[in-house]
Amino acid sequence: MAQAASPSRSGGSRRFVYVVASVAALGGLLFGYDTGIISGALLFIQKDFQLNAFLEGFIVSSLLLGAMVGAAVSGALSDRLGRRTIILVAAAIFAVGAIGAGLAPNVETLIVFRFLLGLGVGSASALVPSYISESAPTDVRGSLSSLFQLAITIGILVAYLVNAAFASASDWRWPLGLAFVPALILLIGMYFLPETPRWLVSKGRDEEARRVLSRTRTEEEVESELKDIRRAEEEEGELAGYRELLEPWVRPMLVVGIGLAVFQQFVGINTVIYYAPTIIKSTGLANVASVLATVGIGVVNVLMTVVAILVIDRVGRKPLLLVGLAGMTVSLGIIGAAFLFSGLSGIISWVTLAGLMLYIASFAVSFGPVLWVMLPEIFPLNARGTGTGVSALSNWGANFIVAQSFLPLIALIGKTTVFWILASICIVAALFIHFLVPETKGRSLEQIEADLRNRVTVGS
Ligand code: BGC
Repeated sequence: MAQAASPSRSGGSRRFVYVVASVAALGGLLFGYDTGIISGALLFIQKDFQLNAFLEGFIVSSLLLGAMVGAAVSGALSDRLGRRTIILVAAAIFAVGAIGAGLAPNVETLIVFRFLLGLGVGSASALVPSYISESAPTDVRGSLSSLFQLAITIGILVAYLVNAAFASASDWRWPLGLAFVPALILLIGMYFLPETPRWLVSKGRDEEARRVLSRTRTEEEVESELKDIRRAEEEEGELAGYRELLEPWVRPMLVVGIGLAVFQQFVGINTVIYYAPTIIKSTGLANVASVLATVGIGVVNVLMTVVAILVIDRVGRKPLLLVGLAGMTVSLGIIGAAFLFSGLSGIISWVTLAGLMLYIASFAVSFGPVLWVMLPEIFPLNARGTGTGVSALSNWGANFIVAQSFLPLIALIGKTTVFWILASICIVAALFIHFLVPETKGRSLEQIEADLRNRVTVGS
């Protein structure tokens, strides 16, 4: 007979789940830090290496290109070799990349190491969400997976602060090299953490899966969860990876995964994250005020992600997304309108700033965390790494397109039109979510998988 766990044991076990998620989430911290640090560092790299505009752009985009490759390769690899194994490889890449970029003697070497860092960032985005999701108990899966996004936002904020701190020293080497520290902690931490129970079952290693589950569940829970995972695994059969992704019952989720990933970027988040100081300065605010405002944006981003963590398992994923998109649409509309009147009075700068704050708050409580929470949830076990990887690849591709086209588009059609286009994209995203995205709150990963099969059987 299965025995119920004593309260103290189950309390302790819950804590271990948080340790697992927090260590893995360091991958998010590195994601945020490595993407956020470059805007400030670039000013001084420029002085040391006499960059032309092309090289300057390439230092920024080499990371995005690396991230695309990292996401594409690592997800599929993790289906074969394990989530933990590939996160360990990514952590080693982060560590080498940070040291190499910090010490780079010339611009070519810097670009190579930024590409390498990109491989780490892309792999983290494809793997950490699956790792956490597959390790988490259903009732707190949304909150735990959101820790990944919380870590991204903290990484971005720390990068803003480090940039400000090193600005007077005109130094870029320390800011880039400092990422070695969290990379090392991730590497050591992951070494001691277990593989996910679900991946172990998919490889027939049920005994190990049982041992992992019993660290965080009562005996009864372990047996019923194992039974569910095994049943889902058997139903999936031999197919795995790309071949499973293209099965008629999985294909709709591939559309949902790629759609969510692309919309998360096309609503314009990184125009704000990467160009906040430029946007704010162009409203007429003084230099110091725009640096402070940028830090303010970083802080709101972190705080509103905490709000999402607190409510996501109660409110659900879809309502959060829809409320957030409503806020983003309104704020982008306001920012666009404010640019029509910029130069008229000081108040307009503050209206723009308020618009930016509302925008970042709305993103942080919705699309930021919800994308990374939902990606692993919507794909079946044997295609989870591959599906999340393909979606993360689309996210980085869309990020690249937005980052490359934002400034040229502004020059071509003007700020107001660009921000109003972004507002319209939010509306299309909301329709996509309303009609095509399933709610996953409160369902185990195996129940979500069964729901998917039923949807297709009922629909056909
Ligand atoms: C996005 C990043 C973005 C960050 C901002 C993440 O979820 O994928 O592109 O920079 O959120 O917080």
